[in-house]
Amino acid sequence: MVQTPAKLPNSATVREVGPRDGLQNEEPVAVADRVRLVDALSRTGLRRIEVGAFVHPDAIPPMAGSEEVFARIERVPGVRYTALVPNARGVERAFAAGADEVEVVVSASTTHNERNVRRTTEESMKAVPALVTMAHDAAIPVQGIVATAFGCPYEGDVDPIRVAALVHAYLDAGCDSVCLGDTTGMATPTRVWDVIGRLPACDLTLHLHNTRGTGLANVLAALEAGVTNYDASVGGMGGCPYAPGATGNIVTEDLVHMLEDMGVDTGVDLGALVACAAMAEEIVGRELPSQVLRAGPRTAATAAAR
Ligand code: COA
Ligand code: ZN
Repeated sequence: MVQTPAKLPNSATVREVGPRDGLQNEEPVAVADRVRLVDALSRTGLRRIEVGAFVHPDAIPPMAGSEEVFARIERVPGVRYTALVPNARGVERAFAAGADEVEVVVSASTTHNERNVRRTTEESMKAVPALVTMAHDAAIPVQGIVATAFGCPYEGDVDPIRVAALVHAYLDAGCDSVCLGDTTGMATPTRVWDVIGRLPACDLTLHLHNTRGTGLANVLAALEAGVTNYDASVGGMGGCPYAPGATGNIVTEDLVHMLEDMGVDTGVDLGALVACAAMAEEIVGRELPSQVLRAGPRTAATAAAR
């Protein structure tokens, strides 16, 4: 007998992370290009855009100049413009630049955390409550991201119990939401269920990479588990410079195309998004892994053949 599929959520929120997670892994591009990409994305119906990172410019050269990007974008009402920060200096810079929300990132695996921010996971987590206080004093919400939540390129499997403990620590520190990062695409659907099933009720985002082709399968698993917030990168730009073998995030237009067809409302105009993916390819100067950009939406070929 065919099993009744799980009821899917009626809607989902997609956060566009290409201008940060995507571009941080490319050769640095001009501030003007970063600005026009964010501005085009702002007009697609996306409600959250990760504009940049306030990290050390020597650590991630493509993110130098994030202040200028924030200063020059044309803000569309209703869109939340967010920034990734590694420490207190990052929170200060994000505040000065007018970010609407900051994301603090700590890796579940200590080796990855040390490569990324030169601290152990425990050292980084100890600093989180003070960062939350700083951000809240400036009326900025904070998201706590657990990177390498489904596996680490240096250490291999990561214990889901450790991931759940870090989520608890973020919430205890006062974070407004949490995000699980599959930094190098090591999740599969059953691992997604295994980790999510251990978490307390909270505002949760999944940040998936499609390194091993499991990205959208993981989204379906998470939808069935009730998760309604997903990160994705236009065109599929992305990776992590401190993670060998990392490739792009799941592709925003592929995700929106699938969700909309499944009756999960995203509020995003797919045609406008595909145009942004073409712009992203032009900006980075290489072919990106997007599939909907190449093939068009599922009925496009039919229309063309008519
Ligand atoms: N932005 C700009 N400069 C910063 C900074 C920030 N967020 N944080 C620290 N600095 C500066 C300090 O002011 C100090 O400058 P000085 O030498 O002129 O006094 C210098 O960097 C060293 O400070 P320290 O606190 O010792 O930092 P560090 O050298 O241990 O580097 C990080 C730590 C977190 C700043 C750095 O590793 C980093 O930016 N990593 C980001 C990694 C990343 O973004 N990965 C991808 C996303 S997951
Ligand atoms: Zn990522």
